[in-house]
Amino acid sequence: MHTLDLPGLAADAGAGHAAGAALAGLTTLRVGGPCAHLVTCADTGALVAVVRALDAAGVRTLVLGGGSNLVIADAGFDGAAVRVATAGIDIDGTLVRADAGALWDDVVARTVAAGLGGIECLSGIPGSAGATPVQNVGAYGAEVADVLERVELLDRGTGERHWVTPDALELGYRTSVLKHRDDALVLTVEMRLRGDGLSAPLRYGELAARLGAEAGVRLPVDEVRRTVLGLRAGKGMVADLRLDDGTPDHDSWSAGSFFTNPVVDDARLPAVLEAVAARVGADARVPQYPAGEGRTKLSAGWLIERAGFGKGYPGAGAPARLSTKHTLALTNRGAARTTELLGLAREVRDGVREAFGVLLVPEPVLVGCEL
Ligand code: EPU
Repeated sequence: MHTLDLPGLAADAGAGHAAGAALAGLTTLRVGGPCAHLVTCADTGALVAVVRALDAAGVRTLVLGGGSNLVIADAGFDGAAVRVATAGIDIDGTLVRADAGALWDDVVARTVAAGLGGIECLSGIPGSAGATPVQNVGAYGAEVADVLERVELLDRGTGERHWVTPDALELGYRTSVLKHRDDALVLTVEMRLRGDGLSAPLRYGELAARLGAEAGVRLPVDEVRRTVLGLRAGKGMVADLRLDDGTPDHDSWSAGSFFTNPVVDDARLPAVLEAVAARVGADARVPQYPAGEGRTKLSAGWLIERAGFGKGYPGAGAPARLSTKHTLALTNRGAARTTELLGLAREVRDGVREAFGVLLVPEPVLVGCEL
């Protein structure tokens, strides 16, 4: 019999507790074993009280937001999973304040409906608002760092709540000081948007082309949101897509991009481009983006495909496959286990390394397992 007897916990109306709960269904990949305890926190006060109590009792904890960037081991998690189910979204002029547990796309939808610009390119991204500063979520040329005003954290060392400004977070490409550590928990996210009904200037070629606009142009936010949602759905990069017959589209049972796009130093780049030419042909052009002084970001999806892992690899019937719409997403076809998913991830990583000498690094957080 599992019991979780923590002072102050039972008295907290905002928290619910279950023993031996399944975790797979709380992630977008839908893999992973159970946890010993699951505590669901519906308001920030309860969340803070629960995490403080668990920390004081020395219980291992796993904080779950939208579960869209998480790979949990088949053995599960031998501790308490804390589900952040806070959901408040508050708009005051151009200032937007979201509870960590608010669904990110609800936040975007609300701001777009209010005619606010700045996060419309981040439409359709699965997961919760609290996760966005942790890995500086980005898409179509925009990232959360562009609009972030303040983040409220729970310092789990001291138990104190405090606000920090973005400069303290060292936000970079899919990273910040909050990634891969659990001593600071995001409670609230505050963003400053634009109030004139127009989007941020378009920066992504594919999006601008779809909108029939030049790069740098600003368009009505709702038009940009609609177009981004269409682009993402076409790549399976939206949670819980359905096929025409109403059954789940397993291309959307993923953690989004499984690998970050590799950033290569100028010194290394010629060797990589040579390997690309040798393998794919002299005319091959791997998509490249500037990534700061002396560094270039390459497209992981392109490299994966040209290393021999096409869309849908390794084929129908496999429990874990690359998405049939985008090679950068690893997907669960319905009954995959974490072992199978990670086996595929290793095969892809090793194949790309052999073909091009580039090491792909996983983007999701791996719990109780590794690549
Ligand atoms: N490509 C292929 N094969 C594919 C998919 C893409 O060759 O199956 C090549 C194409 O040449 C394409 C290029 O890769 O032009 C780039 O593809 P895409 O525009 O889809 O962008 P991405 O680099 O694969 C990144 C983010 C996504 C984000 C999109 C759009 C990372 C790791 N991924 O993907 O973010 O939605 O750009 O901005 O930075 C996520 O992080 O989970 C995520 C989905």
